[in-house]
Amino acid sequence: MTSIGFIVLAAGMGTRMKSSAPKVFHKIAGRSMLAHVLSTLNALNPDHLTVVVGPDMDAVAKEAGRIAPDAVIAIQKEQLGTADAVKAALPGLRGFSGTLIVLCADTPLIASATLQDMHRLIEDGADLAVLGFQATDPAGYGRIILDKTGRPAAICEETDASQAEKDIKLCNSGIIAFNGAKLPALISEIGNNNAKGEYYLTDAIQIAALAKMRVSLAQCPEDEVLGINNRGQLALVEAIMQDRLRERAMAGGATLIAPESVFLSFDTRIGQDVIIEPNVTFGPGVNIENGVTIKSFSYLESCLVRECATIGPFARLRAEAVIGEDSSIGNFVEIKKSVLERSVKVKHLAYIGDARVGGAANVGAGVIVCNYDGTAKHHTDIGEGAFIGSNSCLVAPVKIGEDAYIGSGSVISKDVEAEALAVSRARQVSKPGWAARKKQANTKGR
Ligand code: UD1
Ligand code: CA
Repeated sequence: MTSIGFIVLAAGMGTRMKSSAPKVFHKIAGRSMLAHVLSTLNALNPDHLTVVVGPDMDAVAKEAGRIAPDAVIAIQKEQLGTADAVKAALPGLRGFSGTLIVLCADTPLIASATLQDMHRLIEDGADLAVLGFQATDPAGYGRIILDKTGRPAAICEETDASQAEKDIKLCNSGIIAFNGAKLPALISEIGNNNAKGEYYLTDAIQIAALAKMRVSLAQCPEDEVLGINNRGQLALVEAIMQDRLRERAMAGGATLIAPESVFLSFDTRIGQDVIIEPNVTFGPGVNIENGVTIKSFSYLESCLVRECATIGPFARLRAEAVIGEDSSIGNFVEIKKSVLERSVKVKHLAYIGDARVGGAANVGAGVIVCNYDGTAKHHTDIGEGAFIGSNSCLVAPVKIGEDAYIGSGSVISKDVEAEALAVSRARQVSKPGWAARKKQANTKGR
């Protein structure tokens, strides 16, 4: 096996996105396009990786370093085109002579197997291999022009294409593999004599073909290489990614009653015999264990739901929520940074933040954990088996002992010992006949 390296182009401004953020930061299933591409490359254990960024793109470089700590960051000073971007990467390659695959960070669905196929073409003697696909709508893509033997002879960019060339459906994915030893010479021959006045990496194909180098064509399904230049394409790629994630969840043994209405993140973990009702959204970092039911209109992020718990409908689980086995979280309940142990019930209209709730505790309707005093967050501890009466406020920091009862409507700001009853509300006063006397007084006054 010869070594394999990658050059990821991410210096473009992405003007067609009409965004203040760099294009590669836009997210697909909760993760930046750049992170998607780099984690696909990580899976191939590359011998070399360069990410090309623009001069004011420290944040992009940082994101690249987070996913691929060994990546070399190259800076392209001016965005003069894709060949110029590769040129910026050359010094960092230090004579790397294995397979070098150039790919764009705006093509996040690319599969590692396809990249391996391209590596094999170079190992088998190709000097250059371009990855093409049959486009449903080729608009905006470079068209691959084949010679009589079916090998790529040139790539014609849309802006330079004649009508006959525009009719070609075989398009350039933007992913091109090179024999690394031959890349620098090819790049140096590329000029900018085209409609946009840019240095096109795609010109390497014609230069190589005319020099009688071996140019190969690899092909993959369109879905894998959809490029994102605008928000419409972003949504299209998101939809494909969502379908993949739903299929993965179902293949793993989860029931999605209406899969098209469930939105997952790249890292959502879902166990077996999980039932997900329609209209549920998972932000990043969610782990759902076996046998859990998630009812409609729930929103979960960065949380762990243990076996056989029930969530929703209309529940919101936020960062660092842990829901214990067999626990039950009902409608309009929000839980943040709290650990609920097993068989806890919080069934209606409650907020729990920065708390521990012991096993089998029952948190009544409308209970609020007041975790924030306007400056800092404080912790609340609810003991095993405690019963928190409806519409109570627990003002943190506060501790409710095991099996204690809180009378409903209480505002609890002092610790309550185990097995005690705490009530903190005005005593009820009843005045018999009061309403009748008031009525009489009103009639007399007229
Ligand atoms: C490019 C290809 C086109 C292909 C399409 C596939 C070229 C000339 N064209 O077109 O044949 O069909 O991708 O999606 O290669 N970039 C830089 N520096 C630059 C210019 C671009 O780093 O100076 C980066 C961009 O960040 C982007 C990638 O290169 O990740 C591609 O650039 P983009 O402008 O999106 O090219 P396309 O017009 O999509
Ligand atoms: Ca593009």
